[in-house]
Amino acid sequence: MEKAIILGIESSCDDTAAAVWHNGKILANVVASQKIHEKYGGVIPELASRAHQSNIVPVVEEALKIAKIAIKDIDGIACSFGPGLMGSLLVGANFSKGIAQALNKPLLAVNHIEAHVLSHFIDEPKPQFPFLCLVVSGGHSHIFKVDSPYEIKVIGKTIDDAAGEAFDKVAKMLSLPYPGGPLVDKNSQNGNPLKFQFSPGTAPDFDYSFSGFKTSVLYFLQKQIQLDKYFIQNNLEDICASAQYTIINSLMNKLEKAAKKYNIKHIGISGGVAANSGLRDLLTEKANTNNWDIYIPSFEYCTDNAAMVACAGYYKFIHKQFADISTTPFVRTVWE
Ligand code: KG4
Ligand code: ZN
Repeated sequence: MEKAIILGIESSCDDTAAAVWHNGKILANVVASQKIHEKYGGVIPELASRAHQSNIVPVVEEALKIAKIAIKDIDGIACSFGPGLMGSLLVGANFSKGIAQALNKPLLAVNHIEAHVLSHFIDEPKPQFPFLCLVVSGGHSHIFKVDSPYEIKVIGKTIDDAAGEAFDKVAKMLSLPYPGGPLVDKNSQNGNPLKFQFSPGTAPDFDYSFSGFKTSVLYFLQKQIQLDKYFIQNNLEDICASAQYTIINSLMNKLEKAAKKYNIKHIGISGGVAANSGLRDLLTEKANTNNWDIYIPSFEYCTDNAAMVACAGYYKFIHKQFADISTTPFVRTVWE
Protein backbone atom coordinates (compact mmCIF):
# COMPACT_ATOMS: atom_id res chain seq x y z
CA MET A 1 0.00 0.00 0.00
CA GLU A 2 1.36 3.38 -1.05
CA LYS A 3 1.92 6.00 1.62
CA ALA A 4 -0.54 8.87 1.67
CA ILE A 5 -2.39 11.11 4.08
CA ILE A 6 -5.87 11.91 2.80
CA LEU A 7 -8.40 14.20 4.44
CA GLY A 8 -11.95 13.01 3.63
CA ILE A 9 -15.01 15.27 3.68
CA GLU A 10 -18.65 14.17 3.52
CA SER A 11 -21.66 16.51 3.36
CA SER A 12 -23.97 14.96 0.75
CA CYS A 13 -27.09 14.70 2.91
CA ASP A 14 -27.55 15.43 6.61
CA ASP A 15 -24.24 14.28 8.12
CA THR A 16 -21.23 16.58 8.20
CA ALA A 17 -18.18 14.36 8.44
CA ALA A 18 -14.40 14.46 8.24
CA ALA A 19 -11.84 11.66 8.44
CA VAL A 20 -8.10 11.21 8.17
CA TRP A 21 -6.59 8.29 6.22
CA HIS A 22 -2.95 7.63 6.98
CA ASN A 23 -1.08 4.91 5.09
CA GLY A 24 -4.05 2.53 4.92
CA LYS A 25 -5.49 3.29 8.36
CA ILE A 26 -8.22 5.62 9.52
CA LEU A 27 -6.83 7.78 12.32
CA ALA A 28 -9.99 9.84 12.89
CA ASN A 29 -13.61 9.54 11.78
CA VAL A 30 -15.81 12.37 13.02
CA VAL A 31 -19.52 12.72 12.18
CA ALA A 32 -21.88 15.52 13.22
CA SER A 33 -25.41 14.23 12.61
CA GLN A 34 -28.05 16.90 12.23
CA LYS A 35 -30.86 16.51 14.76
CA ILE A 36 -32.85 19.43 13.35
CA HIS A 37 -34.62 17.20 10.78
CA GLU A 38 -36.17 14.87 13.37
CA LYS A 39 -39.15 17.09 14.06
CA TYR A 40 -39.98 17.34 10.35
CA GLY A 41 -39.89 13.57 9.74
CA GLY A 42 -37.34 13.89 6.93
CA VAL A 43 -34.36 15.92 5.73
CA ILE A 44 -35.13 19.58 4.91
CA PRO A 45 -32.50 20.49 2.27
CA GLU A 46 -32.16 24.19 3.17
CA LEU A 47 -31.71 23.42 6.88
CA ALA A 48 -29.21 20.68 6.04
CA SER A 49 -27.04 23.01 4.02
CA ARG A 50 -27.08 25.68 6.74
CA ALA A 51 -26.12 23.12 9.38
CA HIS A 52 -23.23 21.89 7.19
CA GLN A 53 -21.93 25.45 7.03
CA SER A 54 -21.83 25.71 10.84
CA ASN A 55 -20.45 22.20 11.32
CA ILE A 56 -17.78 21.80 8.69
CA VAL A 57 -14.92 23.76 10.26
CA PRO A 58 -15.25 22.30 13.79
CA VAL A 59 -15.67 18.77 12.39
CA VAL A 60 -12.53 19.02 10.23
CA GLU A 61 -10.56 20.59 13.10
CA GLU A 62 -11.63 17.80 15.43
CA ALA A 63 -10.67 15.08 12.95
CA LEU A 64 -7.20 16.58 12.43
CA LYS A 65 -6.76 16.98 16.18
CA ILE A 66 -7.72 13.35 16.90
CA ALA A 67 -5.43 12.16 14.09
CA LYS A 68 -2.61 14.45 15.31
CA ILE A 69 -2.08 15.58 11.73
CA ALA A 70 -1.40 19.17 10.69
CA ILE A 71 -3.46 20.22 7.69
CA LYS A 72 -0.31 21.22 5.80
CA ASP A 73 0.85 17.59 5.95
CA ILE A 74 -2.04 16.07 3.99
CA ASP A 75 -1.28 14.74 0.50
CA GLY A 76 -4.77 15.21 -0.91
CA ILE A 77 -8.30 16.23 -0.03
CA ALA A 78 -11.17 13.89 -0.92
CA CYS A 79 -14.78 14.99 -0.91
CA SER A 80 -18.18 13.52 -1.89
CA PHE A 81 -19.21 15.43 -5.02
CA GLY A 82 -22.52 13.57 -5.42
CA PRO A 83 -25.04 12.17 -5.63
CA GLY A 84 -26.83 14.09 -2.92
CA LEU A 85 -28.55 17.34 -2.08
CA MET A 86 -27.01 20.20 -4.07
CA GLY A 87 -27.01 22.73 -1.21
CA SER A 88 -25.37 20.18 1.09
CA LEU A 89 -22.81 19.00 -1.47
CA LEU A 90 -21.75 22.56 -2.25
CA VAL A 91 -20.63 23.14 1.34
CA GLY A 92 -18.19 20.20 1.37
CA ALA A 93 -17.09 20.72 -2.22
CA ASN A 94 -16.33 24.43 -1.83
CA PHE A 95 -14.58 23.86 1.47
CA SER A 96 -12.43 21.13 -0.11
CA LYS A 97 -11.63 23.26 -3.15
CA GLY A 98 -10.55 26.08 -0.82
CA ILE A 99 -8.15 23.79 1.04
CA ALA A 100 -6.84 22.23 -2.18
CA GLN A 101 -6.09 25.66 -3.60
CA ALA A 102 -4.67 27.17 -0.43
CA LEU A 103 -2.31 24.23 0.17
CA ASN A 104 -1.75 23.38 -3.48
CA LYS A 105 -2.81 19.75 -2.90
CA PRO A 106 -4.81 17.47 -5.23
CA LEU A 107 -8.59 17.57 -5.06
CA LEU A 108 -10.16 14.07 -5.17
CA ALA A 109 -13.82 14.21 -6.25
CA VAL A 110 -15.47 11.06 -4.92
CA ASN A 111 -18.80 9.51 -5.91
CA HIS A 112 -20.68 8.98 -2.63
CA ILE A 113 -22.13 5.59 -3.64
CA GLU A 114 -18.76 4.31 -4.83
CA ALA A 115 -17.43 5.40 -1.45
CA HIS A 116 -20.07 3.17 0.20
CA VAL A 117 -18.75 0.30 -1.98
CA LEU A 118 -15.12 1.08 -1.07
CA SER A 119 -15.95 1.24 2.65
CA HIS A 120 -15.11 -2.49 2.45
CA PHE A 121 -11.45 -1.52 1.96
CA ILE A 122 -11.03 0.36 5.24
CA ASP A 123 -10.60 -2.62 7.56
CA GLU A 124 -9.76 -6.29 7.24
CA PRO A 125 -10.99 -8.63 5.89
CA LYS A 126 -11.11 -6.93 2.50
CA PRO A 127 -13.18 -8.58 -0.22
CA GLN A 128 -11.51 -10.47 -3.02
CA PHE A 129 -12.34 -9.33 -6.59
CA PRO A 130 -14.73 -9.72 -8.21
CA PHE A 131 -17.33 -9.22 -5.53
CA LEU A 132 -20.96 -8.15 -5.48
CA CYS A 133 -21.86 -5.22 -3.28
CA LEU A 134 -25.37 -4.35 -2.20
CA VAL A 135 -25.44 -0.65 -1.26
CA VAL A 136 -28.59 0.11 0.69
CA SER A 137 -29.13 3.52 2.24
CA GLY A 138 -31.69 6.28 2.66
CA GLY A 139 -31.23 7.40 -0.92
CA HIS A 140 -29.92 4.34 -2.77
CA SER A 141 -30.41 0.62 -3.35
CA HIS A 142 -27.94 -0.75 -5.85
CA ILE A 143 -26.22 -4.02 -6.63
CA PHE A 144 -22.70 -3.50 -7.98
CA LYS A 145 -20.27 -5.90 -9.58
CA VAL A 146 -16.87 -4.76 -8.38
CA ASP A 147 -13.88 -5.96 -10.43
CA SER A 148 -11.41 -3.49 -8.87
CA PRO A 149 -11.62 -0.12 -7.07
CA TYR A 150 -11.75 1.43 -10.55
CA GLU A 151 -14.27 -0.96 -12.12
CA ILE A 152 -17.54 -0.64 -10.26
CA LYS A 153 -20.50 -1.57 -12.46
CA VAL A 154 -24.14 -1.25 -11.48
CA ILE A 155 -26.13 -4.37 -12.30
CA GLY A 156 -29.32 -3.55 -10.39
CA LYS A 157 -30.93 -0.50 -8.82
CA THR A 158 -34.17 0.72 -7.37
CA ILE A 159 -36.62 2.02 -9.93
CA ASP A 160 -38.42 4.15 -7.33
CA ASP A 161 -37.75 4.32 -3.57
CA ALA A 162 -34.62 3.24 -1.77
CA ALA A 163 -34.70 0.52 0.90
CA GLY A 164 -33.88 3.03 3.67
CA GLU A 165 -36.70 5.24 2.48
CA ALA A 166 -39.07 2.25 2.67
CA PHE A 167 -37.97 1.65 6.29
CA ASP A 168 -38.33 5.36 7.13
CA LYS A 169 -41.78 5.66 5.52
CA VAL A 170 -43.10 2.61 7.36
CA ALA A 171 -41.75 4.12 10.59
CA LYS A 172 -43.53 7.39 9.82
CA MET A 173 -46.84 5.54 9.27
CA LEU A 174 -46.29 4.02 12.72
CA SER A 175 -45.54 7.47 14.23
CA LEU A 176 -41.94 6.51 14.98
CA PRO A 177 -39.44 9.42 14.78
CA TYR A 178 -37.11 10.02 11.80
CA PRO A 179 -34.93 8.25 10.78
CA GLY A 180 -37.14 5.30 11.59
CA GLY A 181 -35.07 2.45 10.11
CA PRO A 182 -33.22 1.67 13.37
CA LEU A 183 -36.52 1.77 15.33
CA VAL A 184 -38.26 -0.61 12.93
CA ASP A 185 -35.23 -2.87 13.40
CA LYS A 186 -35.42 -2.60 17.20
CA ASN A 187 -39.18 -3.24 17.34
CA SER A 188 -38.81 -6.21 15.00
CA GLN A 189 -36.64 -8.11 17.49
CA ASN A 190 -39.66 -9.46 19.39
CA GLY A 191 -42.19 -9.42 16.55
CA ASN A 192 -43.53 -12.18 14.30
CA PRO A 193 -42.23 -11.57 10.76
CA LEU A 194 -44.89 -13.80 9.25
CA LYS A 195 -47.88 -12.24 11.02
CA PHE A 196 -48.81 -9.80 8.21
CA GLN A 197 -48.16 -10.08 4.48
CA PHE A 198 -47.18 -7.04 2.42
CA SER A 199 -46.51 -6.72 -1.30
CA PRO A 200 -42.79 -7.19 -1.96
CA GLY A 201 -42.96 -5.02 -5.12
CA THR A 202 -41.98 -6.08 -8.60
CA ALA A 203 -39.12 -4.88 -10.79
CA PRO A 204 -37.26 -6.51 -13.70
CA ASP A 205 -33.97 -8.44 -13.48
CA PHE A 206 -31.86 -7.25 -10.53
CA ASP A 207 -33.76 -3.99 -10.01
CA TYR A 208 -35.78 -3.13 -6.93
CA SER A 209 -39.09 -1.37 -6.37
CA PHE A 210 -40.45 -0.36 -2.97
CA SER A 211 -43.31 1.97 -3.87
CA GLY A 212 -45.87 -0.89 -4.10
CA PHE A 213 -44.67 -2.17 -0.74
CA LYS A 214 -45.16 1.24 0.87
CA THR A 215 -48.68 1.55 -0.54
CA SER A 216 -49.59 -1.95 0.64
CA VAL A 217 -48.48 -1.14 4.21
CA LEU A 218 -50.39 2.16 4.12
CA TYR A 219 -53.67 0.61 2.87
CA PHE A 220 -53.37 -2.28 5.30
CA LEU A 221 -52.90 0.07 8.26
CA GLN A 222 -55.74 2.37 7.18
CA LYS A 223 -58.10 -0.62 6.97
CA GLN A 224 -57.06 -2.07 10.32
CA ILE A 225 -57.29 1.27 12.12
CA GLN A 226 -60.90 1.59 10.99
CA LEU A 227 -61.63 -1.71 12.73
CA ASP A 228 -59.50 -1.01 15.82
CA LYS A 229 -58.12 2.45 16.52
CA TYR A 230 -55.39 0.96 18.72
CA PHE A 231 -54.28 -1.50 16.03
CA ILE A 232 -50.78 0.03 15.69
CA GLN A 233 -50.13 0.24 19.43
CA ASN A 234 -51.33 -3.34 19.92
CA ASN A 235 -49.37 -4.80 17.01
CA LEU A 236 -46.30 -2.56 16.66
CA GLU A 237 -43.70 -5.32 16.97
CA ASP A 238 -45.44 -7.67 14.53
CA ILE A 239 -46.01 -4.88 11.97
CA CYS A 240 -42.35 -3.85 12.17
CA ALA A 241 -41.12 -7.45 11.94
CA SER A 242 -43.41 -8.21 8.97
CA ALA A 243 -42.43 -5.02 7.09
CA GLN A 244 -38.73 -5.63 7.76
CA TYR A 245 -39.07 -9.24 6.63
CA THR A 246 -40.58 -8.09 3.31
CA ILE A 247 -37.88 -5.48 2.64
CA ILE A 248 -34.88 -7.63 3.53
CA ASN A 249 -36.18 -10.65 1.61
CA SER A 250 -36.70 -8.49 -1.51
CA LEU A 251 -33.14 -7.20 -1.15
CA MET A 252 -31.68 -10.64 -0.61
CA ASN A 253 -33.64 -12.44 -3.35
CA LYS A 254 -32.23 -10.19 -6.07
CA LEU A 255 -28.74 -10.30 -4.59
CA GLU A 256 -28.86 -14.10 -4.53
CA LYS A 257 -30.10 -14.19 -8.13
CA ALA A 258 -27.28 -11.87 -9.22
CA ALA A 259 -24.68 -13.96 -7.37
CA LYS A 260 -25.90 -17.06 -9.21
CA LYS A 261 -25.96 -15.39 -12.61
CA TYR A 262 -22.45 -13.94 -12.27
CA ASN A 263 -21.16 -16.95 -10.34
CA ILE A 264 -19.66 -14.76 -7.62
CA LYS A 265 -19.25 -15.99 -4.07
CA HIS A 266 -17.78 -12.86 -2.47
CA ILE A 267 -20.68 -10.72 -1.30
CA GLY A 268 -20.65 -7.43 0.60
CA ILE A 269 -23.32 -5.09 1.91
CA SER A 270 -22.88 -1.44 2.85
CA GLY A 271 -24.85 1.76 3.42
CA GLY A 272 -27.05 2.68 6.39
CA VAL A 273 -29.48 -0.22 5.95
CA ALA A 274 -26.53 -2.64 6.19
CA ALA A 275 -26.76 -1.87 9.92
CA ASN A 276 -30.10 -3.73 9.99
CA SER A 277 -29.86 -6.79 12.21
CA GLY A 278 -32.40 -8.76 10.15
CA LEU A 279 -30.48 -8.11 6.93
CA ARG A 280 -27.21 -9.14 8.58
CA ASP A 281 -28.77 -12.37 9.89
CA LEU A 282 -30.33 -13.17 6.52
CA LEU A 283 -27.02 -12.53 4.75
CA THR A 284 -25.30 -14.94 7.14
CA GLU A 285 -28.00 -17.54 6.50
CA LYS A 286 -27.62 -17.13 2.72
CA ALA A 287 -23.84 -17.34 3.07
CA ASN A 288 -24.20 -20.74 4.70
CA THR A 289 -26.58 -22.03 2.02
CA ASN A 290 -24.62 -20.67 -0.94
CA ASN A 291 -21.11 -21.00 0.43
CA TRP A 292 -20.48 -17.24 0.20
CA ASP A 293 -17.73 -15.21 1.83
CA ILE A 294 -19.54 -12.20 3.21
CA TYR A 295 -18.31 -8.71 4.12
CA ILE A 296 -20.04 -6.10 6.27
CA PRO A 297 -18.15 -2.94 7.24
CA SER A 298 -18.25 -1.96 10.90
CA PHE A 299 -21.29 0.11 11.85
CA GLU A 300 -19.51 3.50 11.76
CA TYR A 301 -18.52 2.86 8.14
CA CYS A 302 -22.02 1.72 7.09
CA THR A 303 -23.93 4.93 7.75
CA ASP A 304 -22.71 8.14 6.06
CA ASN A 305 -19.12 8.87 7.04
CA ALA A 306 -15.97 10.48 5.68
CA ALA A 307 -13.68 7.49 6.27
CA MET A 308 -15.15 5.80 3.19
CA VAL A 309 -14.65 9.05 1.25
CA ALA A 310 -11.01 9.25 2.34
CA CYS A 311 -10.55 5.58 1.36
CA ALA A 312 -12.14 6.14 -2.08
CA GLY A 313 -10.01 9.29 -2.40
CA TYR A 314 -6.87 7.27 -1.71
CA TYR A 315 -7.55 5.05 -4.73
CA LYS A 316 -7.98 8.17 -6.88
CA PHE A 317 -4.81 9.66 -5.40
CA ILE A 318 -2.59 6.69 -6.27
CA HIS A 319 -3.91 6.69 -9.85
CA LYS A 320 -3.49 10.47 -10.05
CA GLN A 321 -7.19 10.92 -10.80
CA PHE A 322 -7.18 14.51 -9.64
CA ALA A 323 -10.21 16.74 -10.08
CA ASP A 324 -10.07 20.13 -11.67
CA ILE A 325 -10.84 23.01 -9.32
CA SER A 326 -13.81 23.90 -11.55
CA THR A 327 -15.48 20.50 -10.89
CA THR A 328 -19.07 20.98 -9.73
CA PRO A 329 -21.09 18.67 -7.49
CA PHE A 330 -23.88 16.57 -9.03
CA VAL A 331 -27.30 15.60 -7.68
CA ARG A 332 -27.66 12.28 -9.51
CA THR A 333 -25.37 9.65 -10.93
CA VAL A 334 -26.25 8.24 -14.32
CA TRP A 335 -24.68 4.78 -14.22
CA GLU A 336 -23.46 3.40 -17.55
O1 KG4 B 1 -26.12 5.55 4.40
P1 KG4 B 1 -26.99 6.41 5.26
O2 KG4 B 1 -26.47 6.84 6.61
O3 KG4 B 1 -27.40 7.72 4.52
C1 KG4 B 1 -27.72 7.79 3.17
O4 KG4 B 1 -26.79 7.84 2.32
O5 KG4 B 1 -28.94 7.77 2.91
O6 KG4 B 1 -28.37 5.63 5.43
C2 KG4 B 1 -29.42 6.13 6.20
C3 KG4 B 1 -30.59 5.17 6.10
C4 KG4 B 1 -31.86 5.71 6.74
O7 KG4 B 1 -32.93 5.48 5.85
C5 KG4 B 1 -31.99 4.85 8.00
O8 KG4 B 1 -33.32 4.68 8.43
C6 KG4 B 1 -31.39 3.55 7.53
O9 KG4 B 1 -30.28 3.94 6.75
N1 KG4 B 1 -30.96 2.70 8.65
C7 KG4 B 1 -31.55 1.53 8.96
C8 KG4 B 1 -30.90 1.04 10.11
N2 KG4 B 1 -29.92 1.94 10.47
C9 KG4 B 1 -29.98 2.95 9.56
N3 KG4 B 1 -32.55 0.87 8.36
C10 KG4 B 1 -32.91 -0.30 8.90
N4 KG4 B 1 -32.35 -0.83 10.00
C11 KG4 B 1 -31.35 -0.19 10.64
N5 KG4 B 1 -30.80 -0.74 11.74
ZN1 ZN C 1 -24.87 7.28 1.96
